[in-house]
Amino acid sequence: MHLTILVGTVHGNATSVAQTLLLSAPDHHLSMDLLPMDGLDISVFDRPGTFLVCTSTTGSGDVPDNALALYHALDAQAKYLGHVRYGLIALGDSSYGDTFYGGGKRFDERLQDLGAQRVGDICVLDASSGDDAAETATTWFADWVSLLTQDS
Ligand SMILES: Cc1cc2nc3c(=O)[nH]c(=O)nc-3n(C[C@H](O)[C@H](O)[C@H](O)COP(=O)(O)O)c2cc1C
Repeated sequence: MHLTILVGTVHGNATSVAQTLLLSAPDHHLSMDLLPMDGLDISVFDRPGTFLVCTSTTGSGDVPDNALALYHALDAQAKYLGHVRYGLIALGDSSYGDTFYGGGKRFDERLQDLGAQRVGDICVLDASSGDDAAETATTWFADWVSLLTQDS
C-alpha cells in the first residue's frame, strides 16, 4: 500500500512529525512519501493509495500559507473525491481556544464535503499539552495503519 503524507506547516513542526512517521514506513510494510503542500492542487488526489494530511494551524484557525493553494483548490477545482481515503494529523495549540486545530478542521470539512472518507479519528497534537508530538503521532499512526489494513 502506498501512503502520501501532505504537509502544511509554518515553522516546521508538522514536517518533523511527518518525517518521523516516514522513518517508520518499513515497520508498517508501507511505501510512503512526504509532499509539502506548496503549490499542490486537487490533482494530487489522483495519485494511487491513501493520504495522510498533516497540517498545523496559523492566524485564527487558518491553514498555513504553504497549504493555501491546495486548500483553495478544493473549492476552485471541486470534484467528487469518493475514491479518496485519508487520515488527519492536526497540530495546534489549545491556548488559542475556539480556533484550536482549525487548520486541520478546515481540511477535514472540505475533504468530507467532496466525498472523501476519513479513516479513524483525527490525531490532535496540542503544543500546550507538554506531550512529545512525534511520540503521540507515532502511537496514533500504528493504530491508524491497522485500521487502514482492516478496511482495505
Ligand atoms: C502566529 C501563530 C498563530 C497560531 N494560531 C493558532 C490557532 O489559531 N489555533 C491553534 O490551534 N494553533 C495555533 N497556533 C499554534 C500552531 O499551530 C502550533 O504551534 C503548531 O505546532 C505549529 O506547527 P508548524 O511549525 O508545523 O506550523 C498558532 C501559532 C502561531 C505562531
